[in-house]
Amino acid sequence: MLALTVVPLKQGSAEVTEVPDPEPADGELLVDGMALGVCGTDIEIVAGDYGWAPEGEQRLILGHESLGRVREAPDGSDFSSGDLVVGVVRRPDPVPCVPCGRGEFDMCRNGQYTERGIKQRHGYGSERWTVEADYAVKIDPSLESVGMLMEPTTIVAKAWDHIGRIGSRYTFEPRTVLVTGAGPIGLLAAMLGAQRGMSVNVLDRVTEGPKPQLVEDLGATYHSGSVADAVGSCKPDIIIEATGVGQLVFDAMQETSAGGITCLTGVSPTGRELSVDAGAINRDLVLENDVVFGSVNANLRHYKLAAEALTKADRSWLERLITRRLPLDRFQEALDRKPDDVKVVIELAS
Ligand code: BGC
Repeated sequence: MLALTVVPLKQGSAEVTEVPDPEPADGELLVDGMALGVCGTDIEIVAGDYGWAPEGEQRLILGHESLGRVREAPDGSDFSSGDLVVGVVRRPDPVPCVPCGRGEFDMCRNGQYTERGIKQRHGYGSERWTVEADYAVKIDPSLESVGMLMEPTTIVAKAWDHIGRIGSRYTFEPRTVLVTGAGPIGLLAAMLGAQRGMSVNVLDRVTEGPKPQLVEDLGATYHSGSVADAVGSCKPDIIIEATGVGQLVFDAMQETSAGGITCLTGVSPTGRELSVDAGAINRDLVLENDVVFGSVNANLRHYKLAAEALTKADRSWLERLITRRLPLDRFQEALDRKPDDVKVVIELAS
């Protein structure tokens, strides 16, 4: 079968290669791959900046934003042939650390976790793949065309879950959220904010293309100026930062209302220096009881929350997040970012 593979840390090594058909082990599903969402992490891996092949192998099958249809399911599992499924990205570390031992592998504390398509495990970018039934999540058949949005939705489901947990340290009644960045993570974070009945604001650089209207159609407000301009009109209780742009990160964390929470979700490149008034930032965080925290990955609880959020969402709005769909043999075009892209999808079914 065909798979999208790469030699991690080697730029220009991505190609569609013939690989052996996967054999499901005990307790595993055999799945026909349908589609793969492309994200910043995939682009980083292909650029030679990130990623690890499985031990003893040279190439890594790429892809962690999966969608497939079950071909074979083990007897007695909750799955049957024909079900739409998404595979979970992370697996607990083998030690395991305390959170990994309790199913909170998204909070792994020793860094020895593995990730499908990213770190030491083959991903879901192949015509067929296998997945442990315990790490597969069934999705509603009505999500067939947009199910690959599940994984990015789990990222924001976790962000909102942790905002809620951190908020419970006092009587926090948040009303307004500012999301910085209107890429897939930002827009899905905004969608979950709208589902919570919050007043939602989204800040991005662009003034054209699909993003402003996608935001308006959530009943949210779109801003394209500076953080200060956006904040001036909305005074957010919560900021979800989804650009990873250093300057924006520092601007954002000082701008919540008192007792506010800033959640950072963007993975930025390293090596770019910035001059900041560290005293002012510290003073502001202390005097206002603010919290700034980082959030990555998601556990099974978040997959459940994400599946619920997607099931509730307007299908045509979700469809509009997918701005391009390309077949596997045109993966290079899929990895090439275009100004109007929100989510680009690689179709795996031939
Ligand atoms: C994925 C996460 C993963 C992270 C770091 C992101 O693109 O969505 O699941 O933990 O990359 O590897």
